[in-house]
Amino acid sequence: MTTSKTIAGLIGPTLVALAAGMLLNIGSFRALAERVSRDPALIIDIRLEATTRSTIRNSSNMRKPIPSSVSRRRIQSLPEKDSEMTERISLEGKVAVVTGAGRGLGRAYVELLAERGARVVVNDLGTDVSGFGKDSTIAEQVADLIRSRGGEAIANDSDVSSPEGGSDLIATTIKHFGRVDLLVNNAGICGSQLFEDATLDDFDHYWRVHLGGPVNTVKAAWPYMVAQHYGKIILTTSVAGLLGIRGQATYAAAKCAVVGLMRILAIEGAEHGILVNTISPAGYTRMHPAAVADPAWLKQSEATMPVEAVAPAIVWLASDGCSETNRIYNVEAGAIQRIAIVMGPGFTDPHLTPESIAENYAKVESIEGFFEPGPFEPGQIPATAKS
Ligand SMILES: NC(=O)c1ccc[n+]([C@@H]2O[C@H](COP(=O)([O-])OP(=O)(O)OC[C@H]3O[C@@H](n4cnc5c(N)ncnc54)[C@H](O)[C@@H]3O)[C@@H](O)[C@H]2O)c1
Repeated sequence: MTTSKTIAGLIGPTLVALAAGMLLNIGSFRALAERVSRDPALIIDIRLEATTRSTIRNSSNMRKPIPSSVSRRRIQSLPEKDSEMTERISLEGKVAVVTGAGRGLGRAYVELLAERGARVVVNDLGTDVSGFGKDSTIAEQVADLIRSRGGEAIANDSDVSSPEGGSDLIATTIKHFGRVDLLVNNAGICGSQLFEDATLDDFDHYWRVHLGGPVNTVKAAWPYMVAQHYGKIILTTSVAGLLGIRGQATYAAAKCAVVGLMRILAIEGAEHGILVNTISPAGYTRMHPAAVADPAWLKQSEATMPVEAVAPAIVWLASDGCSETNRIYNVEAGAIQRIAIVMGPGFTDPHLTPESIAENYAKVESIEGFFEPGPFEPGQIPATAKS
């Protein structure tokens, strides 16, 4: 509730909350993590309830409320084998570019993408966790590893926070593989700093990597995807930005900007066959100690949040069977959940006064009967879209 209030406060009268039950806060994660650590055989069902897809569009392109039952995630033991319902997903013939793939989550992504047949470009500048320094061997080592397993991979050490770096990465991809089917913007940096200590230069430092990276690489890849009339783009946000965490103003602001970018790329890409989604991952990497000082939480997340548990979502999003776009997915510890921005019915009075707002604040606050607005056509505003 506190989170909803905070986000709602940021956008004025619009009541915003993440879809009920799809929230994954650190408290709920702890409970889940405890359960998993007690029972290592437990695998959390990563399937979204099928009814999530039954969200209905009406003539004004509005989304109807999602039944609250779809937001409940199910936990059950599953055998360690591919689903019997779905044919094994192959990415044979696809070319995938992953930024920041020399370590952590990105490395897990390229390893699984290559295992599923994709030709991969392992980009990594090789910075320290704060974004300083350079080490070209980081990307090389991962590309070597993939090749040693029989996969196809090349390394690239471009700095995606610069336009030249974005161009170089995509030019290298085209030169070697002739096309680009999937672009995963994963490169990132992290630290911890109270807002009162952060300067505009600090914000700029984070924006350049987290938002500039996607802008620079997507700009370079876009013309190729348009020409192919095909392309998939995955951006990376974070619960730090979506939900908030102390000490992360610079990081969180940049991570939420990515969601705004996705909204527009999804709209403008649709006519070109370009699908754009955002992943909010959690997997234990060097970013965790850089962001959170709590030793107990670090120990637990190291034990229960492997980076490999996030990679299946990347392969699924890359697959031809997935036609989703403009979506945000939280992926961690074997769970995948759609995160949505929803609007409550609120309180309406043509003669709205400060006093009537105060008197009816319970209605303003409530998201009971929420709906998911957007995307809007130019000139359409949320209030008219609602009717
Ligand atoms: N680990 C998590 O739980 C978590 C949670 C939420 C979001 N994320 C996001 O996931 C992504 C991956 O994070 P991670 O935890 O694997 O971090 P990581 O530090 O292990 O890996 C990030 C990689 O990005 C590279 N990189 C940094 N700046 C670059 C640049 N300008 N150009 C090219 N490469 C660059 C680094 O060298 C590094 O190898 C980041 O965007 C991060 O913000 C991670």
